[in-house]
Amino acid sequence: MDIIVSGMRPTGRLHLGHFHGALVNWLRLQEQYRCYFFVADWHALTTDYATPQGINQNTIEMVMDWLSVGLDPAKSVLFRQSRVKEHAELHLLYSMITPVPWLERNPTYKEQIKELTGKDLSTYGFLGYPVLQAADITIYKANKVPVGADQAPHVELTREIVRRFNQTYEAIFPEPEVLLTEAQKVPGLDGRKMSKSYGNAVFLSDTPQEIDQKISRMVTDPARARRSDPGEPEKCPVFQLHKVYSTEAEIAEVTVGCRTAGIGCLDCKKIMIKHVIDDLAPFREKRSQYENKPDDVEEVLRAGNEQAQARAGETMAEVRGVLGL
Ligand code: TRP
Ligand code: SF4
Repeated sequence: MDIIVSGMRPTGRLHLGHFHGALVNWLRLQEQYRCYFFVADWHALTTDYATPQGINQNTIEMVMDWLSVGLDPAKSVLFRQSRVKEHAELHLLYSMITPVPWLERNPTYKEQIKELTGKDLSTYGFLGYPVLQAADITIYKANKVPVGADQAPHVELTREIVRRFNQTYEAIFPEPEVLLTEAQKVPGLDGRKMSKSYGNAVFLSDTPQEIDQKISRMVTDPARARRSDPGEPEKCPVFQLHKVYSTEAEIAEVTVGCRTAGIGCLDCKKIMIKHVIDDLAPFREKRSQYENKPDDVEEVLRAGNEQAQARAGETMAEVRGVLGL
């Protein structure tokens, strides 16, 4: 059976972007493959080493969301990276064979250095981010890695590191493939990519009132300054959400209504808001159960850490053997 590995940084409560971008896919994959899904808490430190305080709480919040959307510890191994020290050992060995220029030319690295100007990214750990990711993936001998396009270069680098390891020592690792997540586009409330740090997110755990208030204020096609101005749905981020949530008939209705100024933006939004709220009802129900029993989340992680560690330990025994360590 193919083995799947993917990780998410502990950002706390998850939003619709996480759901449609990654979780929908994970839910499908856990039905078909041996899946390892983990909280990449060491990776969080590569960009935010000075503020580790939130990591525990964010881990619990995030895993609560994972469980509430239906990730099932009976099907997938759900664990926390920093609890499986073998990742760090493999990362160390990979760091010996990874040429620095491979890391310096990594597009994500160059892009983040340019964009995240408020952060100190001049560290060894940040440069080595993909080396740690290579260890995460290969320690379970994953064949497939479901990630968004932004992470594809990291998986490509993993393949290069694997080839080098296999050639230098002994061929024990499969080369993992990217499973490109073809995600539905979920814009944030301001039309930019949905992100907690932009303050434009609808969280899975928002109350129906919060969802209603947030989306009611969402930006629309600026051409519709007045109710009587016609608009163009394709230029409106609200319409992107309609495409995800509304029925064909409703989409047709708001398309015409928008172009003819036959419908107001608020009425247009309300049609979709109802679906978002209804869709999340089972999630809210499950999450409130976990909120009353946070120990259950700890217990899921404890069991997952143990399972992951057993597998990672086997791989590391093999690796040490191959290197004669
Ligand atoms: N780098 C990934 C991200 O920021 C998280 C991650 C860490 C990961 N290790 C991984 C993803 C291994 C897939 C496989 O989204
Ligand atoms: Fe956007 Fe709907 Fe307003 Fe058109 S009517 S601009 S699709 S919110």
